[in-house]
Amino acid sequence: MLIEKGTIVTESTSFQGDILISGGKIKEIGEKIEKTSSTTKVIDAGGCFVFPGAVDVHVHMELPVGPGLCSSDDFESGSRAALAGGTTTIIDFVTPLRGQPLPEALAQRKEQARKSLCDYGLHMSITSWNKHTASEMKNCVEKEGITSFKVYMAYKDTIGLEDRELIPVMDTAAKLGALVAVHCENGDVIKYLQEKFLSQGKTSPRFHPLSRPAAVEREAVLRALTLSAAAGCALYIVHVSTEGALAEIAAARLAGQKVLAETCPHYLLLEKKEYLRPDSAAAAYVMSPPLRPKGHGAALWQALRDDVLQVVATDHCPFNRKQASHPDFSKIPNGVAGVENRLALLYTYGVLQDKISLNRFVEITASAPAKIFGLYPRKGALQPGSDADILIWDPAYEGVISAETHLHNCDTNIFEGFPIKGKPRLIIRRGKIAYEKDSVMLKKGAGLYIPRGAPGLYP
Ligand code: URP
Ligand code: ZN
Repeated sequence: MLIEKGTIVTESTSFQGDILISGGKIKEIGEKIEKTSSTTKVIDAGGCFVFPGAVDVHVHMELPVGPGLCSSDDFESGSRAALAGGTTTIIDFVTPLRGQPLPEALAQRKEQARKSLCDYGLHMSITSWNKHTASEMKNCVEKEGITSFKVYMAYKDTIGLEDRELIPVMDTAAKLGALVAVHCENGDVIKYLQEKFLSQGKTSPRFHPLSRPAAVEREAVLRALTLSAAAGCALYIVHVSTEGALAEIAAARLAGQKVLAETCPHYLLLEKKEYLRPDSAAAAYVMSPPLRPKGHGAALWQALRDDVLQVVATDHCPFNRKQASHPDFSKIPNGVAGVENRLALLYTYGVLQDKISLNRFVEITASAPAKIFGLYPRKGALQPGSDADILIWDPAYEGVISAETHLHNCDTNIFEGFPIKGKPRLIIRRGKIAYEKDSVMLKKGAGLYIPRGAPGLYP
């Protein structure tokens, strides 16, 4: 297959050129490549950008959140939506029950993930610590290609860890050369504030952000930085939402600490005022951390430009209206959809509004996440030898985001009505047409589990 006449964009260069694909891999990239044989399929990418297939390192497909309740996209529907938006690789999570052996939880999760259309990897969440955990973590790294572990400082009643449990996780990860991804919110303060509001009859979703104020994130970020510095482990802070958290991360990076961080489109583009909607509509915006007051979004864009943040992922974790409705805000399942909309939102509101360059767009959505999570240069790169995961992006498209038309298995979209410019025109995944003429061409199960290598401490 030969892709010709497009503008090839990587994290560091842009040029008009061609890409030759053979055996599912990129064979050659150059300004002008001749057809190698009469059977070479030629794709004219004239007028389009040619990006590496995007990588979303933070998604929760069919995440169990309570008895009989899972996030509403399973690996099939969620990965189909991801592909339609330009993402060819996802990394989801194994979330063991407390005390459950990690290999058992991993085997169960791999069975669910086999439905994926996207190529996929898995982070291992550590939800409790026992005498087997260190050796099971070693097994993850050495046998399973799982080189990142996720811990939660919130959700202490279910999956969150105390500091005394975070320390051995970080110590073990440091010895294994693995990355620890942390959900930074002070779980004890949140629980205290939730109980206080509920005891005062303040049960509406508008109390969700008030029960998780900005300081709750900043304090947890500083604590995670303190613990990981002591343990000597590399840290990745997920879904950063506040200016205060950015200040802590920037200071740590300046001091030479190995810390990388991500934000999500909703923190860049939406604000806390969404919770003032009627309760049934406001419930759709319940995610953790919550949306923030005006001002934090601008700080997050600046942090993307300054490399205080390296990644924009989605934390895709949708719930339908019915699943999300509950008279007590603390019982509304946390999470929102976004995997399909990430690129169009960042292109429209980032690149076209001069908040980030086109190269930075590729970097934060594809190459940096691939580097950080040990996928590069197989994924997130346009280089000879890389998987031929290629996104041909039509910048002329104009449309509007809507739950009526998105592929997310979710009856709401928090970006409903947002005008967008640009969308995938054609996507190739490991050399095969994955998306063409507005249709996903890959079938259920077409994705491959990708064992990951050592985290790249980018830059
Ligand atoms: O609200 C969120 N973020 N839901 C998904 C689970 C998590 O906390 O990452
Ligand atoms: Zn998450």
